[in-house]
Amino acid sequence: MKIVIATKNDGKISEIKDFFKAKGLLDLIEILIYKDFSDFPDVKEGSRSFLSNAKIKARQIAKYCGCWALADDSGLAVDALGGRPGVISSVYAGTDASDADNREKLLKELEGIRSFEKRTARFICRMVLWDDKIGQVNLSTGICRGKIGFKEKGTGGFGYDPLFIPEGYNLTMAQISQPEKNSISHRGKALKKMSGFLAKQLY
Ligand code: IMP
Repeated sequence: MKIVIATKNDGKISEIKDFFKAKGLLDLIEILIYKDFSDFPDVKEGSRSFLSNAKIKARQIAKYCGCWALADDSGLAVDALGGRPGVISSVYAGTDASDADNREKLLKELEGIRSFEKRTARFICRMVLWDDKIGQVNLSTGICRGKIGFKEKGTGGFGYDPLFIPEGYNLTMAQISQPEKNSISHRGKALKKMSGFLAKQLY
C-alpha cells in the first residue's frame, strides 16, 4: 500500500513518518512525500474549516499522485483571541510569514494577558485519508490543550511549539522529544486513530 503525505511542511512529515515507524507500519505501507514527485502541487486551501481544508488537500494530492493521500490540516486556537489564529495559523502574520513571524505576532497579541492561567489554547488536527476513485476513506481528529508561554523556549518541533506548554507539562512542545510530542499532540492523537483504521485494512 502506498500513501502520500499531502503537505510540504517538513515538520509534519517528520512527525507522521516517525509515528508510522514507531507503530511498525513502514514495512507494510510505503510513505511517499512531495520530494518523490516532480512539480508536487501547492494546494490553495482557502476554507474556513480545518476539515474542508484537509479534504481539499487530500483530494488534490490523491488525484495528482494516483495513490491514497493523507492530509492534515491543523492549527492553534487561543481562547483569549476568540479562537485565532485557527485555520490561518500558518499565515497569521501574512502570506509570506515564517514560523518565527507568526510566533512574534502571537506574543504581541497576547501582551495584555498577563495571567498565565488566562493564556489557554489548543492545537487542533483534522486528518483525512483520500482515494482518488472512492473519495474519503477515513477521517480522524486530535486535540491537544495547553497554554501560551511568555517567551519562546526550545528548538524542537515547528510552528508555535516554542510557545505552547501542553497541559501537565512545565516544558514547551519544542523542549520535548518528537516521540513524546507524538504521544500527546493533536497530530499524534489523530494519527493513532488513523493508524488503527489502517492496521485493520492491512492485517
Ligand atoms: P496547515 O499547513 O494549513 O495545516 O497549517 C498548520 C499551521 O498550524 C502550521 O504552519 C503551524 O503554524 C500550526 N501548527 C500545526 N500543527 C502544529 C504543531 O504541531 N506545532 C506547532 N504549530 C503547529
